[in-house]
Amino acid sequence: MTGRLDGRIALVFGAGSSGPGWGNGKAAAVLYAREGATVVAVDRNLAAAGETVGIIEGEGGKGFALAADVTQGGEVAATVADVVARCGRIDILHNNVGITEMGDLADITEQGWHRVMDVNLTSVFLTCKHVLPVMQGQGAGAIVNVSSLASVQINDYPYFSYYASKAGLNHFTRALAVRYAAQGIRANAVLPGVIDTPLIYQQIVSQYADAAAMKQARDKIAPMKRSGTAWDVARAALFLVSDEAAYITGVCLPVDGGLSCRA
Ligand SMILES: NC(=O)c1ccc[n+]([C@@H]2O[C@H](COP(=O)([O-])OP(=O)(O)OC[C@H]3O[C@@H](n4cnc5c(N)ncnc54)[C@H](O)[C@@H]3O)[C@@H](O)[C@H]2O)c1
Repeated sequence: MTGRLDGRIALVFGAGSSGPGWGNGKAAAVLYAREGATVVAVDRNLAAAGETVGIIEGEGGKGFALAADVTQGGEVAATVADVVARCGRIDILHNNVGITEMGDLADITEQGWHRVMDVNLTSVFLTCKHVLPVMQGQGAGAIVNVSSLASVQINDYPYFSYYASKAGLNHFTRALAVRYAAQGIRANAVLPGVIDTPLIYQQIVSQYADAAAMKQARDKIAPMKRSGTAWDVARAALFLVSDEAAYITGVCLPVDGGLSCRA
């Protein structure tokens, strides 16, 4: 099926990729454009967002890149104002930015804790704070937040601030869904499990002997005995922002090869 997002404006925060290949945000941005959306690709790293837009335009799609740090309210507000000035509306808000910090409690600094909270959770408050008035004015909008299976299930990694921030993101998503449902705004989350993206080669690899050992070990974790891809996460997000999910809001959808079924 194509054209599921024809004429829509999709604002994707964290639309670049932290390394070569396909990150979750980059894949979602490209998939939204393939379905007809004009994609505003926002990233702290403008070159990374520009690369995503280059792929979109190379496939005949529409989009443009903007630089912003999602932890800075002023930058988020300016980005939203810029998009409204250029596009007139925002139909889809996709919050992809997320980081991890590994360490036992004794090793985690207050600064590190607050940084993860700012990047993973406060950022979503900020983007929603500034985009919601636009969606309320339209009487329509779809928000998708990229959480993690770690929000509901503890794994072997010692990333306390990540668990806490992503659990908070799930409940923030539900609160959004309930509060704004009657105004035509839907909010859902996707919970990726073990996904093979560039991010893990930077932020997870420290837990293994090397990248090959990480890949081999992670592939065994899910019942499907393989890691997922950024496209698996992007396709779930596409469904949730599309009209096919018109009666679905407040859902935290695992994309995890069955891992969440394990006790
Ligand atoms: N890969 C996995 O196994 C996995 C599992 C569960 C959840 N997730 C979630 O997926 C999301 C990341 O997906 P990805 O593969 O696209 O990651 P990524 O790191 O490749 O891409 C995220 C983009 O966000 C940008 N970014 C980082 N900090 C920013 C900031 N402060 N302001 C603006 N932009 C910023 C980076 O420059 C990067 O281009 C995170 O929310 C993560 O928690 C991933």
